[in-house]
Amino acid sequence: MKNKVEEAKKILLGNRKNGYTLPTNNKLYPAQWNWDSAFIALGYSYFNLDFSIIEIETLLNGQWDDGMVPHILFHEKDTSYFPNHTTWQCGKNIPSSGITQPPVLASILRKIVEKNKLNNDQNSRITKVIKKIKNYHDWFIKFRDPNKTGLVSILHPWESGYDNSPIWDQPMSNIKVDKDLNYKRRDLEVSNSDERPLKTDYDRYVTLRDQFRDVQYDPHKLYEISDFNVVDVGFNALFLRANKDLLTLAKNLDLNFDDLNNFVSKTENQILKLYDDNINDFVSKDLKTNLNIVVPSITNYFTLFANLENDQLNKKIINNLKNHNINDNYYFSTIKPNHPSFEEKRYWRGPIWINCNWLIYQGLIKKEPEYANEIKKKTLELIEEKGFHEYYSYKDGSVMGANNFSWSAALYLDLVLEN
Ligand code: DGY
Repeated sequence: MKNKVEEAKKILLGNRKNGYTLPTNNKLYPAQWNWDSAFIALGYSYFNLDFSIIEIETLLNGQWDDGMVPHILFHEKDTSYFPNHTTWQCGKNIPSSGITQPPVLASILRKIVEKNKLNNDQNSRITKVIKKIKNYHDWFIKFRDPNKTGLVSILHPWESGYDNSPIWDQPMSNIKVDKDLNYKRRDLEVSNSDERPLKTDYDRYVTLRDQFRDVQYDPHKLYEISDFNVVDVGFNALFLRANKDLLTLAKNLDLNFDDLNNFVSKTENQILKLYDDNINDFVSKDLKTNLNIVVPSITNYFTLFANLENDQLNKKIINNLKNHNINDNYYFSTIKPNHPSFEEKRYWRGPIWINCNWLIYQGLIKKEPEYANEIKKKTLELIEEKGFHEYYSYKDGSVMGANNFSWSAALYLDLVLEN
């Protein structure tokens, strides 16, 4: 198969704007996205460390005073995206959305720092970045876990990054859509409607967004008034790993972030409790209704990335993972194909996403290297065969969503060049 390293670099550079990089070049996402940017920074670190650091610095330039790092930064007054800056009406230095996204930045930064020799200037810039990330994590702990449980909530499906995942079906079904909604989707102008979220999803996304805007995104109030409040396994696993990585980064720079230790051990214990032995699966929690959410989502396997210190549970998780796409040539589908909520093409309800494969691969390298390498090989083959797309069908690898997708390119670079 043809090695696509040069093509991957070209995609990143082609999507690069002034200090940040678009998720793709087809107008579907004309701004800077939080977790996209983190993955993108890792890609740059293989051929332009400066671009990598700038990507992260630009993202953190949009950080709010309270510590929140928005899920979208609208650097340009482009209104071809919905919802754009005119409808969010917020942002500190940069117009932004008023919610966040999976905090993978610390974990990515640790990878970048560990495999690169930094000069003095880069070192001091990275130190500033790390302090900002600490504020970001403190914001999560303070405002998204006000009852000090050790687990953080997301208040909008967009915060998960896996927007229309069936994990949210039950909590979203309780949201009463505002009758006077008046908005125009733009995503369907550039992508197929059967590969995107439904109108009912968007109605609820916008209803929630309007609720948040009404309280001016005050983080205390948001937690109180949001009709959506979910403790998700995958999201908490990412945050746990990010906190562990942030502690490692801090230690190497003689920064004292020891107050995080307590939260890390609490989260670790609580995630173990989210595994239900009777059903042999993880359970997420809808805090609005106190109902359990059990969906065989690939995002539950981010628990491998979290490096839980429990070999027995890790074994169970790995066994389940091996059954997720049993006999399928292409994997991992976002949802286990035999589940009633599974849809082959619809965004986060079925397709393969490169970042999920990457996170799981990272989580498996030390625990089961052979299997990890098989996943890596499959993922590289998929990209080399089909190209750098946003997502792919688990049935035949056919491509969906946007082309020239930045994180597919960036993570490809990491998988190929990491050693
Ligand atoms: C979109 O526009 O679909 C994004 O996923 C929202 O963040």
